[in-house]
Amino acid sequence: MEAKRLILALFLLFLLSKSSAFPSRKSRVHKPCKRLVFYFHDIIYNGKNSKNATAAIVGAPAWGNKTILANQNHFGDLVVFDDPITLDNNLHSAPVGRAQGIYVYDKKEIFTAWLGFSFVFNSTEHKGSINFAGADPLMNKTRDVSVIGGTGDFIMARGIATLMTDAFEGEVYFRLRVDIQLYECW
Ligand SMILES: *[C@@H]1O[C@H](CO)[C@@H](O)[C@H](O)[C@H]1NC(C)=O
Ligand SMILES: *[C@@H]1O[C@H](CO)[C@@H](O)[C@H](O)[C@H]1NC(C)=O
Ligand SMILES: *[C@@H]1O[C@H](CO)[C@@H](O)[C@H](O)[C@H]1NC(C)=O
Ligand SMILES: *[C@@H]1O[C@H](CO)[C@@H](O)[C@H](O)[C@H]1NC(C)=O
Repeated sequence: MEAKRLILALFLLFLLSKSSAFPSRKSRVHKPCKRLVFYFHDIIYNGKNSKNATAAIVGAPAWGNKTILANQNHFGDLVVFDDPITLDNNLHSAPVGRAQGIYVYDKKEIFTAWLGFSFVFNSTEHKGSINFAGADPLMNKTRDVSVIGGTGDFIMARGIATLMTDAFEGEVYFRLRVDIQLYECW
């Protein structure tokens, strides 16, 4: 009887240790499982470049219009884009995919935007998409946005994308460098 009790006690102790000291949930590794660097190129329509433009103002505040970005830090402008993605910083390099989505300038006092877009890949290297969302305080040298998911080669992707403005030419062209660090990879 005593032996049985002892065994039961030990068994309960074992269960307890299993549930508290050794949680079955996998602990997260705080190191990226994948890192990718791309550039994308945004040519904003300015009234004259409809052939080459990759982005267009589709919404503007009452005091602005859809040809020229509004004053007060472009507050209220909503832009749709379909930009080529390249592996280096050359606009004319062979694109590996398209960056597609929107940005909306969302503060009068400072130059800042909110971004929601996807990288859509259809190349021999990558097939599928990576989805991004987040605040983009444009005056900061680097900005982090969330990688909120993916499909195909990037199914269930999660992580951070560090954006850097690599070039800026007037209000017509800019180039972003995107350093993607995935913390969840399948
Ligand atoms: C469009 O791009 C081509 C090639 O880069 C360039 O030669 C041409 O001047 C551009 N056209 C406009 C209207 O920006
Ligand atoms: C748009 O606004 C700009 C600046 O306010 C102005 O110069 C331009 O003429 C306007 N364009 C149209 C098509 O209304
Ligand atoms: C991907 O590329 C292939 C080969 O060029 C083409 O047949 C297919 O339609 C493309 N798919 C998409 C979604 O663009
Ligand atoms: C942007 O820069 C400011 C000042 O350097 C900093 O306080 C802020 O946290 C930065 N924001 C982001 C989203 O990186």
